[in-house]
Amino acid sequence: MRRYLVAGNWKLNKGPAAGAELAQAVSNLLQGRELKGDVLVCPPYVSIPAVSAVAAGNPVMTGAQNCADQNEGAYTGEVSPSMLKEAGARYVIVAHSERREYQRETDDSFVAKINLIHQAGLKAIFCYGEKLEERKAGQAQAVVKAQLEGVLPRLESADAYNTVLAYEPVWAIGTGETATPEQAQEIHAYSRQVVGDLLGATVAEHMRILYGGSCKPGNARELIGLPDVDGGLIGGATLKAEDFVGIIDGAEAANG
Ligand code: PGA
Repeated sequence: MRRYLVAGNWKLNKGPAAGAELAQAVSNLLQGRELKGDVLVCPPYVSIPAVSAVAAGNPVMTGAQNCADQNEGAYTGEVSPSMLKEAGARYVIVAHSERREYQRETDDSFVAKINLIHQAGLKAIFCYGEKLEERKAGQAQAVVKAQLEGVLPRLESADAYNTVLAYEPVWAIGTGETATPEQAQEIHAYSRQVVGDLLGATVAEHMRILYGGSCKPGNARELIGLPDVDGGLIGGATLKAEDFVGIIDGAEAANG
């Protein structure tokens, strides 16, 4: 049985004060509840300490949205995984489609980042997913396979404990358009098969694969209830405590 993970990607929203307030509101709504899965929020770097302070002792963990591909040195503006760990992060998102597109990040840097994340004792959430034109051209599986093959076999110590995958079809991110349950299950099952080929059947069976792209309280239960979907990586809907907890409720119901 894979434990679900519901992760909020706050993107460029919520500075330290607003972030702590949102984390507190989520904590309050979850007060006294025993969850069957894991809950994570990923604020901007500068908000990680404040959010982690609120989250200490409750079921909400803190993560980062990115990290450097170096651990220290003359890399102006960068933040390393070990620093993120010291600030309170437990997970780091890598290879989000917005970073692939706006920062032109490539497989080499994803590999370097994830290896450092693992060396720091943190868990990586590796994002991948096809664009609309690629899906329309019938290339969704081929793109997903290439993205997984470009990174997973090159990781030094990836396992189902320290690595989480997040399938995020680019056409569904922030658009209000969600993958249908059939589309999501198809790619998730296919991804698990590819992971099996690359890292072995046991890792594939235990590795969590999250769905991301316009996930909200109204569709969370159905999506997270799919056989190969083990949670969600959610942007917009996690900026309101009630909606985020609504998605957690969906994950709880799906795992009931
Ligand atoms: P969205 O973003 O939930 O706002 O579509 C998902 C993501 O980018 O991780």
